[in-house]
Amino acid sequence: MVGIIGAGQLARMTAQAAISLAVDTKVLAVLPTDPACVAATAVEIGDPNDPAALQRFVAGCDVVTFDHERVDPTLLARIETEGVRVRPSAAVLHFSDKAHQRVELAAHGFPVPPFDVVTTASEVVAFAAAHDWPVVAKTAVGGYDGRGVFVLENRDQAVATIGGLAGRRVVVEPMLDISAEIAVLVARRPSGDSAVYPMVETIQHDGICLETIAPATIDPDLRTQARNIAESIAETIGSVGILAVEFFITPDGVIVNELAPRPHNSGHWTIEGAITSQFENHVRGILDWPLGDTSLAAPAVAMANILGGAPSARPDDLPGALSVSGAHVHLYAKPTRPGRKLGHITATGPDQTVALHRARTALAAFTGTPMSKGTLHDH
Ligand SMILES: Nc1ncnc2c1ncn2[C@@H]1O[C@H](COP(=O)(O)OP(=O)(O)OP(=O)(O)O)[C@@H](O)[C@H]1O
Ligand SMILES: [Mg+2]
Repeated sequence: MVGIIGAGQLARMTAQAAISLAVDTKVLAVLPTDPACVAATAVEIGDPNDPAALQRFVAGCDVVTFDHERVDPTLLARIETEGVRVRPSAAVLHFSDKAHQRVELAAHGFPVPPFDVVTTASEVVAFAAAHDWPVVAKTAVGGYDGRGVFVLENRDQAVATIGGLAGRRVVVEPMLDISAEIAVLVARRPSGDSAVYPMVETIQHDGICLETIAPATIDPDLRTQARNIAESIAETIGSVGILAVEFFITPDGVIVNELAPRPHNSGHWTIEGAITSQFENHVRGILDWPLGDTSLAAPAVAMANILGGAPSARPDDLPGALSVSGAHVHLYAKPTRPGRKLGHITATGPDQTVALHRARTALAAFTGTPMSKGTLHDH
C-alpha cells in the first residue's frame, strides 16, 4: 500500500499510474470530494498536521509519499524514526522550504540568485540598497502558482507587503532578467539509479505556469549544464521519486529557481509525451523498482493548463476540445476559482510549434475563448 499525503490532482494522477501496476494507494484527503478520492484504493479524511491523524494514516502503508508539502517536517521526521518508510524523506521534503533550499543549494555551490532570508521590511530595504529595486520577495513556505511571490518596487511597497506577512520568513532576491524558464525532472531510486526527463520550457504569466513545451529549444551548452545540475542536486539531497528543478535562463547563464520534491506541473506532458510518465516513475522510484524510459514519445509535446475563468465564463466544452485531433484532456474535478489549475491538455506534434498550436486550439475550444497568440519565443 502506497500512502499519499494529500489528495489533489498530483495524487489523482499518481493513483492512476499505480492502478496499472496493481499497486494500492491510500490518500489522506481534506474532503471526500478531493480530486484523488475517486482514483485511490482507500481514502482517509484528516489533517496531516494532526499527529494522531497522521499516525492512523501511515499504519499499514509500505511507503508514504506526498501530493503536497504542507506537513510539519518535525512530525514527519518523528514518524520516520518510528520505522515508517517516508519517500522522499523528511529531510528531502524540507527542501520545499524556499529559504532552506536556497541556503543549502548555495552552500553546495549550485548557481542560485543573490538572496537573503529576512523577516522585516528594513532587511528588504538593506538588500535593495545593495542590489537595487525592484526586488522579488517570496514566502519561504506556503506559496504556489505565484501566491507568496511579490515584486517590490520601493521601500513603501516593502513596508506594506512585509508588514502584512507578520514575521514570516521571506527569501528576497533581485528582479532577474529572464530570457526563458526551463524545468528538469529527475526520477531517482533509493539505490541511487536515476533517469532524467528531456528538459521543458515553461511559459509563465503572473507567476502561474500556463504552458510547457518539450523539448526546450535552448542552447545545447545551457541544456547540458541544467541537466547536470539537476542530476547533481538530486544526488546531493538524496531525492527519491520525482524531483523537479526549475531554472531561469539569464545573461549570467542557468540559475536554479526552485525545487519541488514530487511530481510537478512541468511534467504533466509525460503522461502521453514520454515513454514512462512522471507519475509512474514516481511510484517506481519510491518502491525502489526499476525506473522507466524517460525519452520523448513524439518529436515534440506541448501542455496547456486549464485555469478557472471568471464566474461569467461559458460552460466548459469538453466535446469541443476532444474534437481537436491528438489532444488529450485531463480534468481534475476541482471546484472552479479564477486562475485555479483545473486540468490540462497535452498534444504531440512533429515540432514544438505544431504541438503548441494543437494544445492551444483544444484549450480555446474547451474554454470558448480566443486562442492565445504568440510563438515559441515571443511569449
Ligand atoms: N527573481 C525573479 N525575477 C523575475 N521573475 C521571477 C523571480 N522569481 C520568480 N519570478 C517569476 O515568478 C514565477 C513564480 O516564482 P516561483 O517559482 O518562485 O514561485 P511559486 O509560486 O512557488 O511557483 P510554483 O507554482 O512553481 O510553485 C517564476 O516562474 C517567474 O516567472
Ligand atoms: Mg515555481
